This record gives sequence, structure tokens and C-alpha cells, in this order.
Amino acid sequence: MGKSSKDKRDAYYRLAKEQGWRARSAFKLLQLDEEFDLFNNVSRVVDLCAAPGSWSQVLSRVLIKGEKFGRAAWQDREARFRQQMLSVLPEEFSAGQKSKLDEDLLQQEKELKPRKDVKIVSIDLQPISPLAGITTLRADITHPATVPLLLSALDPDYDAHKDATNSNQTSHPVDLVISDGAPDVTGLHDLDIYVQSQLLFAALNLALCVLKPGGKFVAKIFRGRNVDVLYAQLKIFFEKVVVAKPRSSRASSVEAFIVCINFRPPPGFRASLEEPLGVGERLNRMVVERERQKPIIAEVLMQDPQAPATWSAAPVPPTGPAGDEVTEIEVYDQTEDTTRDCNQDIRWIAPFVACGDLSAFDSDASYQLPEDYVSLDPVQPPIAPPYKRAIQMRAAISGGPQR
Ligand SMILES: C[S@@+](CC[C@H](N)C(=O)[O-])C[C@H]1O[C@@H](n2cnc3c(N)ncnc32)[C@H](O)[C@@H]1O
Repeated sequence: MGKSSKDKRDAYYRLAKEQGWRARSAFKLLQLDEEFDLFNNVSRVVDLCAAPGSWSQVLSRVLIKGEKFGRAAWQDREARFRQQMLSVLPEEFSAGQKSKLDEDLLQQEKELKPRKDVKIVSIDLQPISPLAGITTLRADITHPATVPLLLSALDPDYDAHKDATNSNQTSHPVDLVISDGAPDVTGLHDLDIYVQSQLLFAALNLALCVLKPGGKFVAKIFRGRNVDVLYAQLKIFFEKVVVAKPRSSRASSVEAFIVCINFRPPPGFRASLEEPLGVGERLNRMVVERERQKPIIAEVLMQDPQAPATWSAAPVPPTGPAGDEVTEIEVYDQTEDTTRDCNQDIRWIAPFVACGDLSAFDSDASYQLPEDYVSLDPVQPPIAPPYKRAIQMRAAISGGPQR
């Protein structure tokens, strides 16, 4: 299969090379940002499973260089245009003025707005070719030793020898943790989904150690059986949990991204290496605790008995003085919580959104290329791909060159 055949079948692969991204994954992050405004108010970021580094490139261009892409760029241009129109509108709008306006807009667009105090740490098992302003670490995110490594990369004053129960938190917490982790897919679906879930588990545990309250977490998931249990667990830590499918992610793939907004750990929660995520007894206690916080105090309303019930109310003992007219009820939205069963198995179905501009390329379609089209080389070939040794061994056997 020729290079240009792949360029035809995968518009994002081709675009990545044309636009200087190290991988087509860059478009997934850009499309997620278009939908969720991920980079708004963000200056400290951890990029997990980051090689070859296209997500880190996006971070570098948006946060360090101050470039704008997608909707942010469009909104900015519109706002400036409106501003300029307001100041010139009373006058007659001559051709000269119009081209001056266009020039001004272009000039302003080129002005970059780098953010202050940006800190980006990127981690992968594979080496990541250096990116200006980004700290890269070669480490396994599932290994416990990676947590202190990350904490010291984020915070030079971090002391790994302090009391273990207090030290798994950095004093300069981060605003956003992103993880595009994927194992080498075997094709054995259940195994792939299991390994992927372990990566997600490790990514979330790292996120819990470094995120600041209000922070965001975005991670790749494979939508397998029981994935809703995962959503429910994430809901313990974040106010909003959404599953998103960017247009640049093939519709035929089980891949999606979980976008978690507003980190709000349960009271008393402390990230711990010994009990990641509060697994075991602590997780159950946290679920109960979170549920206890849910009740909404509301006056009992007269309900139309014919109306379809979307809200359920479970009375709980009144807390006010005897004779209070207000009755306390526990309210939960049945449209959100469809799976409350008699085992008290708390499940929650996350909303699913497709994101990316509708005019964007369809990642499952093939596109005709011009006849004089020249296929470009990838921007950053892998430095030490896992298949390198196999190539060397095969070359050694056949006596060919070892690359
Ligand atoms: C799809 S690629 C990431 C692409 C990257 N986001 C980009 O934009 O260039 C998945 C990465 O996960 C990494 N990975 C898999 N398991 C890992 C682990 N246990 N620890 C760290 N990285 C891991 C792989 O080495 C691979 O580079």
C-alpha cells in the first residue's frame, strides 16, 4: 500500500502532515476543545501517553505560543470584526477602507497571546522528541514510581520522602490532565479493553494526585461492556462527565473520550498510592457519601398523576422542628439515573456527544486527491518504536540494511 493511498483513505493523516502535526490525534484534541473549551483558563497541564507528541504540540501552540484554533479562533475573529465595524460604520464603507480592515484583521490574527506561567509535563513509555517549553518524561503511567516522578517534574520543591500519606499531592496543582493512552492492540477485544481500562485507571489515579479543584480530566476509553460503571465512578470525582466522539476518530472504532469537568473530590478524599482511587472499602464509602450529598430539599409539589414521572421522590425523616410545613424529600432524576436497582447498584449513563465541526473531514471516507499531489513524509517518525527490534532482526536474517 503506497503512502498516497493512505493519504486518500485518511484525510486526517494527510492533514496532520500538511499542518505539521506529529500525529493525526492532534485533530481529536482540537475537536474536543472546540466542544468543551478545554483550554479556557488553563496553564498547567499533564499529557499522559504523549508520544509521538501531537497533543503536546497542540498544548505548546495554544498555551506557550498563544495560537488559536477552531472555534476559539473563529470567535476571536468575529469579535474583532464586530469591534472594528462599530468604529467604522458611521462612515461610508469604501473599497480602500475594506481592504485596510481585512489587513488589520489579518495582522491582529497573527498576534499571538502566550499565557503566563505555563507548565506542561508529557509522559510516555516511548521517548518523545523534545518540544520547546515542555518537560518530557519516559515512564510507565501504570507504575507507582511514576507518581513521585511526575510530582517532582511539576513541583521542584516536592519532597518524595515526606510522610507517604501527605506527599501524594503537589503544592502547584494542575488545571488539566489529558490521556490518549492506548495499548498495542492485539485484536482480542476483551483483552484490549481490559488493558485500556488499566491505562485509564492509572491515568485517573495520577490525575487525582495532581488536579486542582475545578480541574478537568480527558482520557481515551474503549466503549466496552459495563463502561457505564466507569462513568459512575468518575462521577464521584467530577461534576460533569461526558463521553465524546470527535469527527477525526473513526466511527467504526470503539474509541471515544471521556471528558470530566470540575474536579470536586469527595470530602476527606486524599489521593493515595496504597489505595489508588480509593479502591476497596473506601470506594464504596465514597459512593455512599456522594449519594448522601445529593438530596435536594424541596417542598412536595402537587403532581399531575397522569403526567409521565420523570422525578422520583423518596421521603427521608424530617430534620426540622416538629410541625414544620416543609417535608424533606430525596429527589433523583430518573432520566439520569436509569439503573437504580434493588441491589443499590448505582449506575449512571453519561451523555454522549459527537464533536468537531460538521464541515470537518469524515474520518471513515476516502477523498480524491489532485493528480499532481505529492505525498509528504510524517512530521516525526517514532524514535524507538516497539517494532524496531523486529525490523532489525529480520534485516539481520536476510542480510539487508539494519535501520
Ligand atoms: C495513541 S498513542 C498517543 C498519541 C499522542 N497523544 C499524540 O498525540 O501523539 C498512545 C501512546 O500510549 C503510550 N502508552 C501505552 N501504554 C503506556 C504506559 N503504560 N505508560 C505510558 N505510556 C503508554 C504508547 O507508548 C503510545 O505512545
